[in-house]
Amino acid sequence: MISHSDTSIVTIDRFIIEQEAQFPEATGELSGILYDLAVAAKMISSKVRRAGLIDILGAAGSENVQGEHQQKLDVIANAIIIKAMDHGGRLCAMASEEEEGIIAIPPQFKCGKYVLLFDPLDGSSNIDVNVPVGTIFSVLRRVTPGTGHGATADVLQAGMKQVAAGYVIYGSSTMLVYSTGHGVHGFTLDPSIGEFLLSHPDIRTPELGKYLSVNDSYERDWSEPVRALMRYYRGLDGNREPMNVRYVGSLVADFHRNLLGGGVFVYPSNTQSPSGKLRLLYECNPLAFIAEQAGGAASDGKRRLLDVVPAELHQRSPLFLGSKIDVETAARMLLTDR
Ligand code: AHG
Ligand code: MN
Ligand code: MN
Repeated sequence: MISHSDTSIVTIDRFIIEQEAQFPEATGELSGILYDLAVAAKMISSKVRRAGLIDILGAAGSENVQGEHQQKLDVIANAIIIKAMDHGGRLCAMASEEEEGIIAIPPQFKCGKYVLLFDPLDGSSNIDVNVPVGTIFSVLRRVTPGTGHGATADVLQAGMKQVAAGYVIYGSSTMLVYSTGHGVHGFTLDPSIGEFLLSHPDIRTPELGKYLSVNDSYERDWSEPVRALMRYYRGLDGNREPMNVRYVGSLVADFHRNLLGGGVFVYPSNTQSPSGKLRLLYECNPLAFIAEQAGGAASDGKRRLLDVVPAELHQRSPLFLGSKIDVETAARMLLTDR
C-alpha cells in the first residue's frame, strides 16, 4: 500500500489511481466503476441531507417536478445509482435490492466485463427519525463469455468472487469505505469542496469485539444454541467479558461502528424468518468481504459466508459478522443448530 503522511490530503480519485498503478495488468475499468460510485454516493448524500425538508421544499414547488417529492428516498437512491452506472461501458448487468429482476444495461450503451449489486439505501426506515443510513455495493467479474448483456450466472456468484465491495454511511459525516482485496480504506466527504478525502487508510478490526449488535426482540423465536450464544456474548455464562449492546437498525451503521471499535453484528434465523432477514447479495456478501479484508470474519452460522453459492437474486441469509474470534465462536456454538 502506498504510504501517505498523516497530514497528506488524498482524494478518493487520486487514491484509486495510485492503487491501480500498482497493478500493471489493470485496465482502469474497475477504477472507473469506483469513481462513478463515489459520484452516486455524493448525490445520494445530498438527498439524504435534505430528507427532512423534502416535504416542505417539494410542497413549495421549488425543487421537484412530476411529484418526485412523493418518492421514497430508497427509490430515489436506486435511480441515482442506475443513472450513474449504466452508461460507463464497464458493467454488463446490475441488480438491486429495490428491483425484482436483473437491471439490464440500456441498448444504446456498451456492456463491459463487470457486474454491480447494491442496496441503494440501507436502514431506510430510519430516515424518518434522522438516524444514519447507508448504501452497500458489490462488484463481480462477469463469468459468461462475450461482450453482450450479463446473465443470471454473472450475478449469482459466491461472495469470494467479489473484486470490490464497500459501503457509504450517511452519518454525522458521509463516509465511503471500500476494498478491492488489498485492505480496507475509508474516505470522509468534505461537503465544502465536494470531495471524499482519505481519512481511514488500511482499517483493521480488533480480533475480539466489544460491541454486540442484535435485535433481541426475536429471542422468543431463536433456537436454543442461538440463545446460548447470546448469553455467551453478554458474559452471562462466565466465559467472556460482557459485550456492550448497540443496535441502530441500519446494518451499515452497526457494521461501521463494530468495524472500527470491534464487535459482532448478529442476525440469526428464527422461527418466523428461517433464513434471517438480510439479503446475501446486497448486504451480507459485500460487508463480509470488507470484514475479512480488515481481519474480521463472516459466517451464516454454518460456513464461511463468502463460500455460499447463491441460488436466487433476493436470497436471504443468517448473518454473524465482525470480529474474528466472536464470529468463530458463533460458528462453533451453532454446530448443534442443525
Ligand atoms: P433495508 O432498509 O435496506 O431494507 O435494510 C434494513 C435492514 C438492516 O439495515 C437492519 O440491520 C435490519 O434491517 C433491521 O431489521 P430488524 O428491524 O428486524 O432488526
Ligand atoms: Mn438493507
Ligand atoms: Mn435498502
